[in-house]
Amino acid sequence: MATSSPAVSSQTLAEAVEERRNFAIISHPDAGKTTLTEKLLLYGGAIHEAGAVKARRAQRHATSDWMELEQQRGISITSTVLQFDYNDYTINLLDTPGHQDFSEDTYRTLAAADNAVMLEDAAKGLEPQTRKLFEVCRMRSLPIFTFFNKMDRPARDPLELLDEIEQELGLQTYVVNWPVGAGDRFQGVFDRRRRQFHLFQRTAHGSKAAADTVIDLGDPRIEELLDQDLYYQFKEELELLDEVAPELDLERVHAGKMTPVFFGSAMTNFGVELFLEAFLDYALKPGPRRSTLGDVPPTHEDFSGFVFKLQANMDARHRDRIAFVRVCSGKFEKDMVVNHARLGKSVRLSHPQKLFAQGRKSLDEAYPGDVIGLNNPGAFAIGDTIYQGKKLEYEGIPCFSPELFAYLKNPNPSKFKQFHKGVKELREEGAVQIMFSADESKRDPILAAVGQLQFEVVQFRLQTEYNVETRLDPLPYSVARWVDGGWEALEAVGRLFNTATVKDSWGRPVLLFRNEWNCQQVEMDHPELKLSKTAPVV
Ligand code: G4P
Repeated sequence: MATSSPAVSSQTLAEAVEERRNFAIISHPDAGKTTLTEKLLLYGGAIHEAGAVKARRAQRHATSDWMELEQQRGISITSTVLQFDYNDYTINLLDTPGHQDFSEDTYRTLAAADNAVMLEDAAKGLEPQTRKLFEVCRMRSLPIFTFFNKMDRPARDPLELLDEIEQELGLQTYVVNWPVGAGDRFQGVFDRRRRQFHLFQRTAHGSKAAADTVIDLGDPRIEELLDQDLYYQFKEELELLDEVAPELDLERVHAGKMTPVFFGSAMTNFGVELFLEAFLDYALKPGPRRSTLGDVPPTHEDFSGFVFKLQANMDARHRDRIAFVRVCSGKFEKDMVVNHARLGKSVRLSHPQKLFAQGRKSLDEAYPGDVIGLNNPGAFAIGDTIYQGKKLEYEGIPCFSPELFAYLKNPNPSKFKQFHKGVKELREEGAVQIMFSADESKRDPILAAVGQLQFEVVQFRLQTEYNVETRLDPLPYSVARWVDGGWEALEAVGRLFNTATVKDSWGRPVLLFRNEWNCQQVEMDHPELKLSKTAPVV
């Protein structure tokens, strides 16, 4: 079927791209992601009272039954893309599932993001989940903005926090605002852009946007308002930052090599607006994406996008399946007919949805940097490209290194067919990775996941959608590496100790190790063996 481009002037498209910014928050559970999200939405006017995001979560527990699992576990599996406006910008916040619902989706979301905000608890610094997500950001060279949260509580020395990022992540820091004191003695932050102090005032849980007292650096009141010793310490630190620290280099920021750093307290709504304003000035707008046709600029007149996430049964009343598409070029319009690159056929995008804090809204148009939710059951898989005009495919989304492994057993032979159909479909959908033992006598599929929840979802869906009860036999491995060079390279090194060899769904060899230490040992013993944390994209 022929497809036609909607009439969109290049000027409208260029303006839409210019005003769009898209980001995901990477953090460890409890650092304050929900709280920060809420406060950002508050500034964007998308919600009127902080607490709405959490309240909506709670409400979802009460009203939805995707899944019973969600209720059994008391967690939220579903996640949303939040769009809000601030000043002249349209901002898309891609919510990365975190917490117990950590899964490969968390990583995939980063494939659709143009920027990442690394949120850290200032008392804790870098934590494991943040490090893992950071690695994915680094693979994509995403610009990273660092926000140290909970400054109203006792915190680590800020210079030490910076040092940790520089030393452990190899990321240069550029301080945009600097804290004075912490915990009970938190006095506020100094905005280096405008050379002004923002004095911290506690409000009741920051439920409203906090009134901000701003004082210029040269104002004599500062000495009276701040604790003397903290003021002198601050002056020394500021001198250090101004004289020794490197200048802001936006090119390096955009290449993911330098991170602008902010301090604040999301709960009391302090430092959030300062952060948002600087973020919008420094963040990358939607840019070109690599495809089989070369780099496609967002302002290309033909619509194109790719699926980065599938979500089943978000709304139990509809039993639907939503494909999340990141718009890469052109303008999306409701009822548009597009080409599906993998299937080589055309698809009408008839029920697009914008997923929003307050619920779903139907969507009439979208631009590069936006995310749309498509409701076409079965048509889409992770990484699929849809386009108008000349055929193209975007680079696929890699499989990320799983950390949990278990044989999936079907104890009932009469359910053989459903079992295999279910496993195949759930794999294609990206719910879990499937591997097989290299030992042909062991034929049960191995589920490989980054989060425990993925196992539960697979078992639950096999039961409810395919009517198959399954059993899991966990395997004692926690690290997986793909072998560059395939079976040949693996055979060349001979027998490996403390290692299991399995193959992924494409028959490629994957080594499983009990822990990082075992993996490093093998790498040291066999420097000729090149191992990689992500699977080559097929
Ligand atoms: P998450 O989504 O990253 O897991 O974190 P979330 O926002 O749920 O925050 C985790 C806890 O940390 C919450 O407390 C939240 O109120 C608190 N918090 C977030 N930001 C700040 C901050 O800037 N300062 C302080 N002092 N606390 C902060 P909770 O007791 O688990 O929940 P709640 O009863 O406060 O809602």
